[in-house]
Amino acid sequence: MNGKIVVLPGDGIGPEVTAQAVRVLQAVAAKYGHSFAFIERLIGGSAIDREGTPLSADTLSVCQEADAVLLGAVGGPQWDDPEAQIRPEQGLLGLRKGLGVFANLRPVTVHPALVSFSPLKEEKLSGVDILVVRELTGGLYFGLPRGREVRNGQMRAVDTLEYQEDEIRRVVDLAFRLAQSRRKRVASVDKANVLESSRLWRQVANMVGKGYPDVSLEHILVDTAAMKLTSNPAGFDVLVTENMFGDILTDEASVLAGSMGMLPSASLGEKGPGLYEPIHGSAPDIAGKGMANPVGAILSAALLLRYSLHLEGPARRVESAVNRAIDDGNRTADIAGTLSTQQMGDAIIKRL
Ligand code: IPM
Ligand code: MG
Repeated sequence: MNGKIVVLPGDGIGPEVTAQAVRVLQAVAAKYGHSFAFIERLIGGSAIDREGTPLSADTLSVCQEADAVLLGAVGGPQWDDPEAQIRPEQGLLGLRKGLGVFANLRPVTVHPALVSFSPLKEEKLSGVDILVVRELTGGLYFGLPRGREVRNGQMRAVDTLEYQEDEIRRVVDLAFRLAQSRRKRVASVDKANVLESSRLWRQVANMVGKGYPDVSLEHILVDTAAMKLTSNPAGFDVLVTENMFGDILTDEASVLAGSMGMLPSASLGEKGPGLYEPIHGSAPDIAGKGMANPVGAILSAALLLRYSLHLEGPARRVESAVNRAIDDGNRTADIAGTLSTQQMGDAIIKRL
């Protein structure tokens, strides 16, 4: 098949890790006789520096016309002025909204050889296989009104958490569909004891759940979910939740895997290209040193093969190559190894 993939390396370690993910996709194309075209564009801080905006209209439209978008990371201390009107993160949020990718899938599994890198006890980690489905284009990140002002000599700020029924329905529905090919359990995470938006979320989740009699639905408060992610992480199958709750819970869940560098994500909409990015950030402290872990980016490329190009076989081959590379002791610095980003890429490609 032919695939058109936009690559947005972004900032910090983004270019280093996406380069390895692209190499993996090229190796897959060569091996299986596919032809992938890669189009590179700027996003985030590097786009602010060179194009004056974190996501140009041209970049967004190139992304909208592609089959898939592979992104590295955005942000860094040089763009971190809290008073700044233009921030790298606006590029990422604009891209998510512009592509309509309302569901962010963040699978969390623990490679058996890496359990010692998690601060949790080994027995807690066995059997951990979680899929967090984070709502990505609504909720607290996008609600209006938002802003800052000075009123009566006091600085004030407001953010709004708003959901409309169909925004909840489509993401919860996807969570149920995904649960059908897993362990058939959905935990819907909310704060329905306090927030009106969560009471709507719960009501809609119940309605959606009626259409999936084969899948169980449990409601869990976000504070309890945060606690259970460390006290009994193996108890979860699919978690579905509001944008900001999902942001926080997935950073917490990444600790289970031993390193943030290990975890991928896929952001999907109704139609159109998916967006694939590792869940880690731009890691400015190690940027440019060639030591970042490319596994999160490479596993994101596997998700791209699966969800956007519908190449399930090759997606599994990439995941298996990553697992075997780790089984065989290949490690970057975040998991106490000495391999460079490129050498880790080599080790994985060799096993494809
Ligand atoms: C993430 C990141 C982003 C988010 C930032 C960079 C805007 O933390 O993808 O989890 O909050 O969504
Ligand atoms: Mg985050």
